[in-house]
Amino acid sequence: MEQSKARITAIGSYVPVKKMTNFDLEKLVDTNDEWIVQRTGIKERRISEPDQYTSDMCVSAAQDLMQRYDKSLFDVDLILVATTTPDFIFPSVAAILQDKLGISSSVGAIDLSAACSGFAYALHVAEGMVASGLHRKVLVFGADTMSKITDYTDRTTCILFGDGAGVVLVEADPEQTSFLAYHQGTEGIGGAHVYLKGMAEKLKGAEMSNTGTLVQNGREVFRWAVRNVPEGVKAILEKSSYTTNDVDWFIPHSANLRIIEPICERTGIPLERTLYSLVNFGNTSAATIPLALDQGIRDGKVKDGECILIYGFGAGLTHAGLLLNWNPHPQVHLPESDL
Ligand code: COA
Repeated sequence: MEQSKARITAIGSYVPVKKMTNFDLEKLVDTNDEWIVQRTGIKERRISEPDQYTSDMCVSAAQDLMQRYDKSLFDVDLILVATTTPDFIFPSVAAILQDKLGISSSVGAIDLSAACSGFAYALHVAEGMVASGLHRKVLVFGADTMSKITDYTDRTTCILFGDGAGVVLVEADPEQTSFLAYHQGTEGIGGAHVYLKGMAEKLKGAEMSNTGTLVQNGREVFRWAVRNVPEGVKAILEKSSYTTNDVDWFIPHSANLRIIEPICERTGIPLERTLYSLVNFGNTSAATIPLALDQGIRDGKVKDGECILIYGFGAGLTHAGLLLNWNPHPQVHLPESDL
């Protein structure tokens, strides 16, 4: 097994066409645009069609990647899909994608469940697989159709979530790595603060309500994130030779601008060097980080050779972050996008 360097060579993304604005939500629940913007920073979100699922959005994101970087995906040897809203519990979205994207049948395909931290965890797994020499070309998706598990009668949650998909390609490279440092953490004791009902009735003594939609104690999640993410960011920087001044772009999970602001304050990374996708897309769970990164690339903010710090956090409660050197292959074509 030949060890290698792991390099992120390409990115693609997709959001559904249909918009749901704060004004649309005013017609569904007792809320208003001013409250939502003030408490979350979110103005609108994208909603998938009734027959459009996570695998469909992943296909569109992969097509965007293939077009922009002139990449063939046939010889991908591992598909990782970070999602908590798979089309089915099984088969996995990753297996569905092998067929829909026409990838060689020798590929491995698995979904990875870590909610809003999912993309960071999947990227970490991809790095390990490529750097160890076990795999050479890994597709990593962060994708969620949150609208399919959102209760549109609950004003405390329905204002937050939206749908979207992002994907990156991690390839073996003889010279360049994109991965500089990593940090992770889990506090399972907080699992009942944000969950989707499964087969179990209780978690650490907490009764889980019998619903097919997301349930959340927003205030507890908020407190936990503001306490833990800055510590995680500091830990990553300590593991590398980098300081906050070396971070060109900080991309925390886009849960809520009121979570991101104190995180920036506590880490010393200015909000001006922070990218988030929540204003137009809401909290798209595993997709928020690749969407914000791709938006930054398309807006001409993120440039090759820059240092990016991504940090995911959410249900579990879990968190994970990576310090990245952004050095993809050149784009050959930049198609029109909704981003
Ligand atoms: N519109 C108007 N009022 C609302 C409302 C809405 N959409 N949602 C809640 N309220 C009301 C509450 O009922 C409450 O009223 P009360 O004081 O009369 O009981 C009041 O606003 C304050 O509610 P509170 O829950 O304390 O608000 P908050 O400032 O904590 O904001 C969240 C609520 C959900 C926006 C916030 O807690 C949050 O974003 N948490 C993190 C959640 C998250 O990101 N989860 C994903 C994790 S990855």
